[in-house]
This record gives sequence, structure tokens and C-alpha cells, in this order.
Amino acid sequence: MTAGDDQDEGGKGWQARRRELQAVVERHMIRYVGDFPPFFIERAEGAYVYDDRGRQILDFTSGQMCATLGHNHPAVVAAIGRSCERAIHLFSWLLAPEVVALCRELAALLPPQLQKVILLNTGSEANEVALRMAKLATGGHEVIGLSASFHGLTGGAGAATYSVGRRGYGPGLPGNLAIPTPNAYRCPIRHCTDACDLSCLEVGFELIDSQSAGQPAAAIAEPIISTGGVIVPPAGYFPRLKELCEARGMLLILDEAQTAFGRVGANFAFEQDGAVPDFLAVSKTLGGGIPLAAAVTSAELEERCYERGFVHVTSHVSDPLPAAVGLAVLEVLARERLAERAVMLGERLAAGLRDLQQRYEVIGDVRGRGLLWGVELVTDRQSRTPNPELGARITRRCLELGLSMNIVSLPGLASVWRIAPPLTASERQIDDGLAILDQAVGQSL
Ligand SMILES: Cc1ncc(COP(=O)(O)O)c(C=O)c1O
Repeated sequence: MTAGDDQDEGGKGWQARRRELQAVVERHMIRYVGDFPPFFIERAEGAYVYDDRGRQILDFTSGQMCATLGHNHPAVVAAIGRSCERAIHLFSWLLAPEVVALCRELAALLPPQLQKVILLNTGSEANEVALRMAKLATGGHEVIGLSASFHGLTGGAGAATYSVGRRGYGPGLPGNLAIPTPNAYRCPIRHCTDACDLSCLEVGFELIDSQSAGQPAAAIAEPIISTGGVIVPPAGYFPRLKELCEARGMLLILDEAQTAFGRVGANFAFEQDGAVPDFLAVSKTLGGGIPLAAAVTSAELEERCYERGFVHVTSHVSDPLPAAVGLAVLEVLARERLAERAVMLGERLAAGLRDLQQRYEVIGDVRGRGLLWGVELVTDRQSRTPNPELGARITRRCLELGLSMNIVSLPGLASVWRIAPPLTASERQIDDGLAILDQAVGQSL
């Protein structure tokens, strides 16, 4: 079917069907992130999603950052099929072999300090578990987060999330404190320009020391602060963060919801950053689109928490179906060498984005790693004033032209496209996306 057809497979006009669905949405759905889009998605495959008119839309967001293998990868579909014949869900205390196998495979990818795994559902849940275990193990409750962080919106994870969702929901957890995000393009302490020298980290910890009630538990951070504007901390940031934590008896939690399993050109971003965390939280990119997450820690911390009666029983902890999918994802990641592919495609994407930056004054900054890139929109390079209106306009135009883009807007602070196509995308698809973006920017100025 081509755009403009008024008939779909059921024979009913797409416009009539769309109107019917819209009426139901209006009547029955809670709006969880502003208004819903005025169209529906019927199908997703590889790097494309297809709307209710049959329009093909290139997905430069990998769904909600989870579809690193592309949508509906055959290995994921087959794993789901096999699970439907074996076991989908069990009493939380019972273990299926695929659950054990996924714990073993994850541990095989990780260093000796990270060998104990719990399988969960969401990124928020993985962070909750890491935070709860860190508190239990240290006996403290204070948690440091970065000022542009996103770690989820459940109680504990939400209390350490500073980029969105704080206002209007009452107090966060006591003991949650923020340090400045190392944003070289917009230095939070007005000290550096375009190259962070870690002063913000030192200043941040001085502020923490003066506010601490003396009960430290953990610091939590994303290796690339993604929802907060795709901010890439400078070399040396994480080793120094770890040192500062250790000096205070705090544990380091790295939240690799978006960066693990190939996205940044390695199995894990921490391998590139030179600091092994005490807890690793992985989620989105492990499940190939199915809710699957894991928290990983050392044998020593696991033992300490066990002795202190650690409990985390949720309905879907250690479920076999998502574990089978996770195994399939890891197998495809290795077989298709997707981490290497992320580097190759990322270089191509970044070169194209830098070319656009040369030609359009409104592109203030281009930054990223592997196949995760941020493009910051400004009114002009000199003032660096954020330009969210233009960003929204171009994003809408991209969609009209067949490219789905995510713009992360921090009110008053920044307007940044987070560009993250599936790692299985073709070079042609990367070029197509860049061409659409070029056209959309040109037509929106
Ligand atoms: C870095 C990071 N951590 C945690 C989360 C929360 O994950 P979930 O939505 O699966 O709970 C997200 C979601 O966007 C994320 O980007």
C-alpha cells in the first residue's frame, strides 16, 4: 500500500478506522506524556515502523531505545515461540534453565567483580534493586545522582532522576542529592568551554560533603547522560567518580539501560570508561523489545545482602520467557558483531551530522559515541540559546517525510535530538535518515 490509499487490508478506509481509534483514545486512555500522536502504528520490522496508512517510517529511536536488533528480529520472535511451548511464567522462587543460562551468559561478558545476577523487568526496577542492595550493604541511605539524570520513575529510581518528573508528586526520598552534570557545551559551573576538566565533579562532592548526614550509600550515573541531552562525560570522569565514592564508603551504580550490549561500540560502556561499578543495571537493550532487565553485583556484596535478609520478590522476577529472549539477543549481538557495527555506522552517522552542522547555524553541537548521538539545536552558535520551537518543528517535518526522531527538551536548558537507529540498520538507511533530516532542517528554517 502507498501513502494516500484510502483502503486497508480489512477493506475499511484508514481514515474511518483512525477516527474510531482516536475516539477510543480520547475516551479511555490516560495521557502519560502529553498528547498522543494523531496516527497509529500497525506494524514494525527491522529499522521501520508502518503507520495505519501503510506509510513506512524510518525509526531513528530504536523504539524506546530497546530495539537495538531492529524491530521483531527473527531470533527474538523464535525465542518467544519456543517459550510459548515451554514455560512463559513461573512462581518467582522456581527457576527454569533459560534463566540460569542467561545469568551465566551475562556473567561471562563481565569482569570477576560482577558475577551475581538477578533478572528483572524494567530499567527502573533494575535501579531499584541496585539502590536497595546498596543501602542494605552499606547501612546508609544517601544517594548521589547527576543533575540531568534519568533512572526511571518508580520511588527509589525516581528520587535519583533529576531530568524530568520531579514537580508535583510530593517529596522524593530523603538523602537523595545531585551533583552537576559534566556538560562541556554548557558548563554547569560556568568554568569550562567545550572541554570538561572535572571541576564540576570536585565541586559537586564538596557540596555533597557539606549536605551529607553521614549515611552514604551510593552514587548512580548513566555512562552517557541520555535523556538529559546525550551528554558524554570526559575521559577520566568515571575513575574519579569511583575514587570519590570509595573515599566516602559509597558504592557506584552504573545504569547502562541504553548503553549496554553494543550501542556504544562495546558490550558495556564502563569497559570504555575505565571504572568497574559495584552494581551494573542493564535493561532496555537486553530484551530486544520485551521487558527484561538485570542488576549485577559482586559475590561479596550479594553475600552481605543475603546475610542481611535481602528480599526482592516481584511477579516477573526470573520469568523464563524474557530470559529466553535475552539469550537470543546476546547470541545475535555476538554473531552479527553488532558492537563493531555500531562503531562503523556511528562514524557514518556522525560524519553526516557534522556535515549538517557545517551547513546549518542552528546545529550548535554534535556529540556521542558508537551509534548514540546528540544534536543540540540553538538559535545561533554564538549565544548558544536553546531552540526548542525549531527543534519541535523540524521533528514534526521529519515525521511527515518518513523519519521518526526523538527530541529531548529540558525546559530552558536544551533541545537535543537523541539519534539512535537500530544497530542492524543498513548504511543506506543511515544515509536515508540523514537526507530526510537535511531536507527537514532546510524546509523548517
Ligand atoms: C538510563 C535509563 N535508566 C532507566 C530507565 C528506566 O527504564 P524503564 O522505563 O524500563 O523503567 C531509562 C528509561 O528511559 C533510562 O534511559
